[in-house]
Amino acid sequence: MSNDVSNISSNLANTSSGMSFLSPTNTAVQAKAITLYAQKSTHFDALLQDTISLLQKAITEYGPVVQASSLGAEDMVLTHIAQNNGIAIPVFVLETGRLHAETLDLLEKTKAQLGDLLTVYSPQADDVQTYIQTHGLDAIYESIELRKACCQIRKLEPLERALAGKKTWLTGLRREQSGARSVVPFIDESEVNSTGRVKINPLAAWSWGDIWHYIQTHQVNYNVLHDQFFPSIGCEPCTRAVTLGEDPRSGRWWWEDASLKECGLHAKTPS
Ligand code: ADX
Ligand code: SF4
Repeated sequence: MSNDVSNISSNLANTSSGMSFLSPTNTAVQAKAITLYAQKSTHFDALLQDTISLLQKAITEYGPVVQASSLGAEDMVLTHIAQNNGIAIPVFVLETGRLHAETLDLLEKTKAQLGDLLTVYSPQADDVQTYIQTHGLDAIYESIELRKACCQIRKLEPLERALAGKKTWLTGLRREQSGARSVVPFIDESEVNSTGRVKINPLAAWSWGDIWHYIQTHQVNYNVLHDQFFPSIGCEPCTRAVTLGEDPRSGRWWWEDASLKECGLHAKTPS
């Protein structure tokens, strides 16, 4: 295990301007994500209307539809837009068994709000047990193969169950999130031949500022880790805080080569 991995909680997050903020592990200073990020684009109102129209189109032309939610800021916004506009779209969360306590708290709140509309999928207990017995709980840091094997058991197999019988899934992917996502289309039919499914990304053109503007104006619940410099939140052992100005996905699988930083939910990465 590299020093980088064992030194997960860095205590100072340096901003691009050279200022520093006390970071996640120090609760003396809390940076509120809304204060830091909320800033709507000039075309925000049109963007929101287009998103609502796309959600309506999704259920009328691409059903049956389901929303995949990690409970991250984008996903909370997408769920809220659907709910707020009377568009009934079921939601699923892949509860990998390695999520942060903060994410599990938000999951409970979201369950209470969505009721039967929300389904939680967990990995097969036998597969998890076999992995841990064979490789160890934190073998994910040892090699990309073992990390991907963990994602296969805890995310990809449950994803297949969550998508069974669905024609289309909605995600919170945005073009701004990374270079690899910069061309994310609103309606992605590139995997129809292989999986039979369409993926719709209604927030593809939203900025991070737009997401937080919506959260602010609609008082959307969000994961408190966003207040602690976690822009992108996955499993606890594979996610860390980032410094301001840093690539938002740099806190995910940070010990790996940047080109490999996907779990397979969205991008098939080289093995
Ligand atoms: S990941 O591939 O690196 O994990 P990311 O965290 O950026 O993806 O999330 C992108 C989208 O994938 C989310 O907006 C959501 O639609 C879906 N997603 C990611 N993690 C989960 C999860 N645990 N449960 C359900 N959907 C998820
Ligand atoms: Fe396992 Fe990490 Fe993938 Fe979560 S993100 S399933 S802990 S390797």
